[in-house]
Amino acid sequence: MPPIATTEKRTDVDFQREALTALKNKQDIVFVTYSAIEDTEEKIKFVLGKVLEQHNKEDIFTPVLSCIKELIANATKANAKKILIEEGKIQNPDDPVEVVRQIRSILNEDALLEYGIKAKTHGLSTRIYVKMIGNNLIIEVINNLPLSDKEYRKITERIERSSKYDNIAEFFMENPDPEAEGMGLGLSMVVVLLKNINISYKNFMVTTDRRKKTFAKLLIPLGR
Ligand SMILES: Nc1ncnc2c1ncn2[C@@H]1O[C@H](COP(=O)(O)OP(=O)(O)OP(=O)(O)O)[C@@H](O)[C@H]1O
Ligand SMILES: [Mg+2]
Repeated sequence: MPPIATTEKRTDVDFQREALTALKNKQDIVFVTYSAIEDTEEKIKFVLGKVLEQHNKEDIFTPVLSCIKELIANATKANAKKILIEEGKIQNPDDPVEVVRQIRSILNEDALLEYGIKAKTHGLSTRIYVKMIGNNLIIEVINNLPLSDKEYRKITERIERSSKYDNIAEFFMENPDPEAEGMGLGLSMVVVLLKNINISYKNFMVTTDRRKKTFAKLLIPLGR
């Protein structure tokens, strides 16, 4: 069955009704967003809340939502970075100091909105898939830019390394990331949040097809 897609035109009530039907029919739900500050978050909260309620797992709502939000933020930032390069605001994408400075300059509400509109005209979306496969909730956040080998290696390495920690503050002090665009904490926060709800870091993957897309995937077991 094709996934149901959310559009801005649909009202919240319509969305909720369709989402409930989709969940009942085990149909995938996909959210499309261009910046992190739309009403998508409310819709994701609704769907996540319902799925967890159906499996008596409401207690993991907050950590799982925080993970999803972080993955969306990373995807949105990656798309914005591409636009900054195309606009010539980042002249040398290999210079971490310049990249970080420019990205940080747009991490505020007005700029994110502006870059969200630009992302749409550039066809740079972030898609969030919510699906149930058996008793596993799968959340996939996909943005349409590939990772370089270097980025991929760095991300995989940070995910693995943070899996040894129980607390992000400790990870942060021992593994600073001078090239991070934000604090460089997001991926490790996802790993540690999952660990705290007994989910292995192996259930969190960031991959790329190396041509067009980056996929961040979470597998949340909901069975007993
Ligand atoms: N979807 C993605 N596409 C491209 N690069 C990504 C993606 N997700 C993460 N990265 C890269 O991995 C780095 C580390 O991500 P992480 O979330 O840990 O830190 P951050 O986003 O820079 O900072 P913070 O999350 O603390 O605000 C990012 O700086 C970025 O270079
Ligand atoms: Mg991040």
